[in-house]
Amino acid sequence: MNKNAFRSLSYGVYIISTLDGQRPTGCVANSVMQITSSPATIAVSMNHDNYTNSCIAESGVFAVSILSEESDPGLIGRFGFQSGKDVDKFEGLVSVEREGVQVIPDACAYIVCKVIDKMETSSHTVFLGEVIDADVLEKVEPMTYAYYHKVVKGKSPKNAPTYLPEEEKKTSWKCGLCGYEYVGEVPFEEVPEDYKCPICQQPKSVFIKK
Ligand SMILES: Cc1cc2nc3c(=O)[nH]c(=O)nc-3n(C[C@H](O)[C@H](O)[C@H](O)COP(=O)(O)O)c2cc1C
Repeated sequence: MNKNAFRSLSYGVYIISTLDGQRPTGCVANSVMQITSSPATIAVSMNHDNYTNSCIAESGVFAVSILSEESDPGLIGRFGFQSGKDVDKFEGLVSVEREGVQVIPDACAYIVCKVIDKMETSSHTVFLGEVIDADVLEKVEPMTYAYYHKVVKGKSPKNAPTYLPEEEKKTSWKCGLCGYEYVGEVPFEEVPEDYKCPICQQPKSVFIKK
């Protein structure tokens, strides 16, 4: 089987937010798709190890903030490379409440769903949500998964269903936390010591030469 075939599937990059009791939490997902139009339903595939999984299961709600090409890539580091078990991902972040769930205004649109069904796989739960609110926030281009890889130079962690181990092999200098590949004009050795990973904000010292 040539798993590179999966790279020809198209995705976006989304922040899935939900509730941990009263506390907002969530994570990045690319595996979101619209299933039906009337009633409108959306599905998301969530790894069993992600804290967001149990929070969606318990709260019965999730929101999808659709990131744009203009969205701060730091959002992907904040929500995609650390766990809500350990940190409050919404601390110091501007967000707005919609149907009881926080959504990210630095996005091009949002969709809020109540869970109506779920399906288990060996590693992921597919949550099916009926849309209870949705709106367009900004008329900007949505960030595609291809744009995230080619332009933002971001990587996917192992919990993403689209993770491919081959991604690990190509980089010369990469962030030891999020896998971001350094692409500047200046050789990495010569970038200033206060350089920070644009995705997860880690210092220069965590970068590893491959
Ligand atoms: C670009 C990208 C796409 C991702 N897509 C998914 C996904 O579709 N499903 C999933 O379960 N995790 C996905 N992840 C991984 C989770 O965002 C990550 O494991 C996160 O740290 C989980 O946080 P939590 O423990 O607070 O839920 C993705 C991460 C990135 C950076």
